[in-house]
Amino acid sequence: MPDRLTNIAKNIIIGKKIIYLDEVDSTSDYIKRALDIGEMTEGTVVAASIQTKGKGRAGRVWESPAGGLWFSLLLYPRLPMEKMALLSLVFAVAISQGLGEIIEQKCKIKWPNDIYLDGKKLAGILLETGSLEEDIYLIIGVGINVDVDKDQLGSLSSSAASLSEHSSLDLNINSILAAVLEYMEMYYLDFQQEGFSQILEEFKELCLHLDQRVKIDCINRIVSGINVDIDSRGRLVVDTGLAIEKISTGDVKVL
Ligand code: BTN
Repeated sequence: MPDRLTNIAKNIIIGKKIIYLDEVDSTSDYIKRALDIGEMTEGTVVAASIQTKGKGRAGRVWESPAGGLWFSLLLYPRLPMEKMALLSLVFAVAISQGLGEIIEQKCKIKWPNDIYLDGKKLAGILLETGSLEEDIYLIIGVGINVDVDKDQLGSLSSSAASLSEHSSLDLNINSILAAVLEYMEMYYLDFQQEGFSQILEEFKELCLHLDQRVKIDCINRIVSGINVDIDSRGRLVVDTGLAIEKISTGDVKVL
């Protein structure tokens, strides 16, 4: 990896423009609406203090009270679809490393892109693709519990972590955003230029459940076994005892 950029202004794509909102339904939906009326350029970041209709993966609600860092980012990656899918893992590594540097602790990843700290979920990433004329765009939505009141996280309160519980530092949301965007750009450019193999090694090193027993809910079936690898296409490789399964989408439970 290149040396950490010291100033967000040095980013060449991600965060060249940042829109801060007090309240919005969802920062990702805000980007979609702005795209529809032609008012959104590549690399723009939309951040909000509160989201009233935050969206999580698999159609879940993402509770987004004050005290969190909720933002989305627009990119046109110009990659074939199979490589586009890898960005989910690329950004998980970037955000995990960025947050890890801020709190000086290792943040782990639950495949494909949940960030965990001490066994609890600290951050989540939602990737959505769409097309505008000929171009395929990607909206990356990131939710980080910085200093949230867990009572406001509903059913997730007992399984959620907040950065403030793990750091005595003065956690400023804007500086966390700046640091995370620097890491996202570093890894995005590295992926575009060098490919996935080195980032995959980092992913494996940070993975919460490699070599452990897992149960994966793949919507139409459940797969249980040992997570023996993550392959070059970003798939979870599971030895069920009967077969080696390669899984592209699903929710992992670590047993
Ligand atoms: C997940 O782990 O389920 C993904 C959560 C993604 C939440 C973020 S918060 C900013 C952006 N706007 C949304 O509505 N969702 C994402």
